[in-house]
Amino acid sequence: MISLSLLALAAQCVAATTAVASNYSAAVGWYAGWHEPDVPLSSVLWSKYTHMTYAFAVPTVDPKAISLAESDEELLPQFVTAAHKNNVKAGLSIGGWGGSQFYSSNLGSASNRTSFVSSVIGLIKKYHLDLVDFDWEYPGVQGLGCNTISTSDTENFLSMLQELRASPIAANVTLTAATAVVPFPTTNTSLVPQFATVLDWIAPMVYDLSWNWTAGSPRIQRALPSSPLDDSCYASTPDVTGDGLTGRGSARSAVEAWVSAGIPRSKIVLGVPGYGHSFNVNASAAFLSSSSFANATLLTPYPSYDTLNHTVGDKWDGTGGTDICGRFWGPGGIWDFWALVDAGYLLANGSAAAGVPYHWDACSSTPYLYAADRGVLISYDDPRSFAAKGAFVRANGLAGFSMWEVGGDPKGVLLDAILSAPTNASLAVTPSAAAPTPSASTPAGGSGALAQRADGWTSSTLCLLLLAACWTLN
Ligand SMILES: *[C@@H]1O[C@H](CO)[C@@H](O)[C@H](O)[C@H]1NC(C)=O
Ligand SMILES: *[C@@H]1O[C@H](CO)[C@@H](O)[C@H](O)[C@H]1NC(C)=O
Ligand SMILES: *[C@@H]1O[C@H](CO)[C@@H](O)[C@H](O)[C@H]1NC(C)=O
Ligand SMILES: *[C@@H]1O[C@H](CO)[C@@H](O)[C@H](O)[C@H]1NC(C)=O
Ligand SMILES: *[C@@H]1O[C@H](CO)[C@@H](O)[C@H](O)[C@H]1NC(C)=O
Ligand SMILES: *[C@@H]1O[C@H](CO)[C@@H](O)[C@H](O)[C@H]1NC(C)=O
Ligand SMILES: *[C@@H]1O[C@H](CO)[C@@H](O)[C@H](O)[C@H]1NC(C)=O
Ligand SMILES: *[C@@H]1O[C@H](CO)[C@@H](O)[C@H](O)[C@H]1NC(C)=O
Ligand SMILES: *[C@@H]1O[C@H](CO)[C@@H](O)[C@H](O)[C@H]1NC(C)=O
Ligand SMILES: *[C@@H]1O[C@H](CO)[C@@H](O)[C@H](O)[C@H]1NC(C)=O
Repeated sequence: MISLSLLALAAQCVAATTAVASNYSAAVGWYAGWHEPDVPLSSVLWSKYTHMTYAFAVPTVDPKAISLAESDEELLPQFVTAAHKNNVKAGLSIGGWGGSQFYSSNLGSASNRTSFVSSVIGLIKKYHLDLVDFDWEYPGVQGLGCNTISTSDTENFLSMLQELRASPIAANVTLTAATAVVPFPTTNTSLVPQFATVLDWIAPMVYDLSWNWTAGSPRIQRALPSSPLDDSCYASTPDVTGDGLTGRGSARSAVEAWVSAGIPRSKIVLGVPGYGHSFNVNASAAFLSSSSFANATLLTPYPSYDTLNHTVGDKWDGTGGTDICGRFWGPGGIWDFWALVDAGYLLANGSAAAGVPYHWDACSSTPYLYAADRGVLISYDDPRSFAAKGAFVRANGLAGFSMWEVGGDPKGVLLDAILSAPTNASLAVTPSAAAPTPSASTPAGGSGALAQRADGWTSSTLCLLLLAACWTLN
């Protein structure tokens, strides 16, 4: 009886939420174990997800020993149980920005791969996993700074996945990869399509794309959109001033590049952020002419900011420290969606609060706001940008979306927008035979970014005019 009334209560709770995950075959979230104190499993909006992935397990120097020491080892079984109770597939993500140091060496030889594969199989069996996500940042491209790396990373990654897939234990497990916005680097273009035969999907991480981690060189750069749906407004701009006003990828460029490289649309899940980035921009630089804060239409398009002067973002943002490579990082300047609401910049429904200068950037289909009390411009995502991303996913026949991270949007405001987005045919991408050959030979921008510069415009005046038009015509 008790369980029946609990079920009824649970049904009511589910009915009270608006959108559920049924419009996508993959409505995915990464659950960051270390945020559990703020995001208990009981608070998770399970009905809005089809799959959820626990972050992170980390490869160690020994390919036989993938470690859960960095996250909460005791929480993982509870996570899997809670997911299964809610009919959500439970996954484990291996790697991450700070956890990819030993991927290359773990997969660097046939015997290391065999050890790694049995270690993955051990995790699948021990924790009853339905999904394993490989978040290698990045095969063949340096990420953090001291990762092991090899020119054979892409083919070794493929060989490992083939070996894993061949095991009866992993045959029915969903295997996925979080990727950069450009395809895996390889000299043999026939390798990339083969990933589609062993992976259920790839999730290009379309976020952190404003952020050039080579901070300080040049010191002054442009505050670009963090998660642009499209960056063609500025992607084809030559970086005439050397301040980084150039595309670093977008949802559109990512889908074009991966589809051109041979990954079917149905095997692409769009990586979307529940957070934004802030840039220290003083009021005179943030606003065109000397307009008042109240006139949001006058925010300067992509103003310059000092890459060495970041202010700490929300309470989940780090104040800085030394990473495993021994490199010092200052604050990230990260603002989660919930924190923008808590700080009073946004209303609970995601609209800008009264008096907060807000601008919808039509180029990228993402908003900016100016936090005058902190002197920071913030590029973030709101329900409108999530609806645009959902429309894009549907227009392009992608499998769905994956949000970093579940805890960023605890009330499901962004989720509801992406879950219930109608399709929009004008957002369909048609990669042409002339699509640029994907290349990922340049060091990464952020966790989802690899430099992808395009040539094109020769008139910087035209570019500036275009930018101004994009910025103000909305
Ligand atoms: C294989 O793993 C060992 C550590 O167990 C490591 O020392 C070695 O470099 C790896 N091999 C390759 C080719 O990366
Ligand atoms: C995998 O799925 C197939 C087909 O549904 C089934 O016959 C097989 O027993 C499954 N294997 C495992 C290990 O669950
Ligand atoms: C490229 O990879 C394919 C598939 O693995 C292989 O059949 C082919 O021989 C490779 N080509 C070269 C030039 O290595
Ligand atoms: C505001 O920032 C701009 C651009 O970084 C800089 O040139 C200017 O000196 C700053 N103004 C003040 C008052 O700090
Ligand atoms: C804001 O700026 C626009 C463009 O210059 C102007 O048309 C509008 O009247 C201004 N609004 C306010 C409230 O100052
Ligand atoms: C958000 O809430 C405010 C205040 O209730 C309302 O004025 C605004 O229209 C809402 N925004 C949207 C997009 O519904
Ligand atoms: C850093 O940015 C803040 C906020 O925009 C500003 O107040 C401060 O003067 C800047 N510091 C330096 C050294 O530029
Ligand atoms: C699916 O999308 C449609 C818009 O095309 C929306 O009306 C509907 O509510 C969505 N379904 C769910 C379960 O969110
Ligand atoms: C569809 O996308 C186009 C291109 O971004 C946009 O202009 C239009 O407003 C969108 N339509 C709807 C109904 O959202
Ligand atoms: C970051 O800045 C460095 C130094 O200017 C530049 O070489 C690199 O291409 C930039 N990266 C991206 C992703 O824009």
